Amino acid sequence: MTDHHAIRPRRRGPRAALASVAVVALAAGTALLYASSANAAESTLGAAAAQTGRYFGAAIAAHKLGDSTYVNILNREFNSVTAENEMKINATEPQQGRFDFSSGDRIVNHAISRGMAVRGHTLAWHSQQPAWMEQMEGSALRQAMLNHVTQVASYYRGKIHSWDVVNEAFDDGNSGARRNSNLQRTGNDWIEAAFRAARAADPGAKLCYNDYNIDNWSWAKTQAAYNLVRDFKQRGVPIDCVGLQSHFNAQSPYPSNYRTTLSSFAALGVDVQITELDIEGSGTAQANAYRGVVNDCLAIARCTGITVWGIRDSDSWRSYGTPLLFDNNGNKKPAYDATLSALNSGTPVPTTAPPTTAPPTTAPPTTAPPTTAPPTTAPPPPGNCSATVSLNQWPGGFVATVRVTAGSSGTNSWAVTMTIPSGAAVTNTWNAQASGSTGSVRFANVSYNGRIGAGQSTEFGFQGTGSGSGMTPSCSSS
Ligand code: XIL
Repeated sequence: MTDHHAIRPRRRGPRAALASVAVVALAAGTALLYASSANAAESTLGAAAAQTGRYFGAAIAAHKLGDSTYVNILNREFNSVTAENEMKINATEPQQGRFDFSSGDRIVNHAISRGMAVRGHTLAWHSQQPAWMEQMEGSALRQAMLNHVTQVASYYRGKIHSWDVVNEAFDDGNSGARRNSNLQRTGNDWIEAAFRAARAADPGAKLCYNDYNIDNWSWAKTQAAYNLVRDFKQRGVPIDCVGLQSHFNAQSPYPSNYRTTLSSFAALGVDVQITELDIEGSGTAQANAYRGVVNDCLAIARCTGITVWGIRDSDSWRSYGTPLLFDNNGNKKPAYDATLSALNSGTPVPTTAPPTTAPPTTAPPTTAPPTTAPPTTAPPPPGNCSATVSLNQWPGGFVATVRVTAGSSGTNSWAVTMTIPSGAAVTNTWNAQASGSTGSVRFANVSYNGRIGAGQSTEFGFQGTGSGSGMTPSCSSS
């Protein structure tokens, strides 16, 4: 695990298709995978999901990788994994600045050596923080959080299919407010700061916002998450996916409007993933609920995969509710049969990307105000372009996000030049091509963002070492 640039796994065999297709899709910056032929009846969850271009995953625990019943089911049925606890903040940075990836690596290595995808969980969260972080507040915490995101996402760079960058940032109940946490108290922009740092550290991973109780379209918390994603897409904050944890029980049942929720998020131009599925119950009722969830995902092209939160009921964090697909002995439950048959009758994801701008299927909520103040620079001169820079800094490093705005004639191509402060250096750039890394550095558009309509904007970013304070961008265009 020393090579941060390791290529994602490519293997032949039943699970290889998903892994290699995922590599291609990520490399091409496209959202979708597809299997071409009609469905054959597959005998495992992973293979049945893969023929629709999706993954089927499980949360797993490193300390159970010696349990042969557990590992046999894992290797047979699943083609994606999530670390149930091993990549959380208290596991990966037990003391500030001392990182421990040993348990996370056991999970990642098990998965990669078998061609399974890995979902990273989670970089920034109010819960399962190490004691040193729980006691922190303010700018020290903001810097520590950004450093954590950068270090962990950089360490696993190239190995993670999707990261839950931020987990559970909204309150329960009807307020639609942010959850009051030490991270929230560092400023309302903490979520976007975390996403920008994650993009800089691993530009190939899909970046997800993940939460529970955002399944029912009519709940305030769902609308709050929807508004966050819509605002991020409008302002160019990097976000690629929404994770619906989907822990269902009597208090939070599988809602009849779940498909509306999935399609509404997808219409914002993000993937949706069902990330922690478990459904308390038994027998036919439980099987029907699992079938419903799977059918809802299969109906939405941008619902790209499902992860169940454990393998056997006895592995579940809510084992009393027997919420999973295998019983305590590892036998398949009716819920398993329903899930497999739903996957087998599912339609492949279309070969062409669906429009990302389709209107929501229900009336959108009223627009939330932007969470950060707009740039204070003057509007661009006509016929040219202008650029503003915003910084996320921590001791020894920074992420710069540069917004390029076209003047009254729009642009065909553009370039932004900036003097990087002495002692600082550009290490990594996205959505632009950098010439040089120190002194005067020129950032030119890439193929897909050279054309900007009159008065419209695009964003690019870069990560650097040292301090990025005091950079003044200048923009030219043709
Ligand atoms: C749970 C794990 O399953 C437990 O083992 C642990 O004790 C607590 O966390 N939402 C999440 C997951 O995002 O990380 C949680 O996992 C379940 C709720």
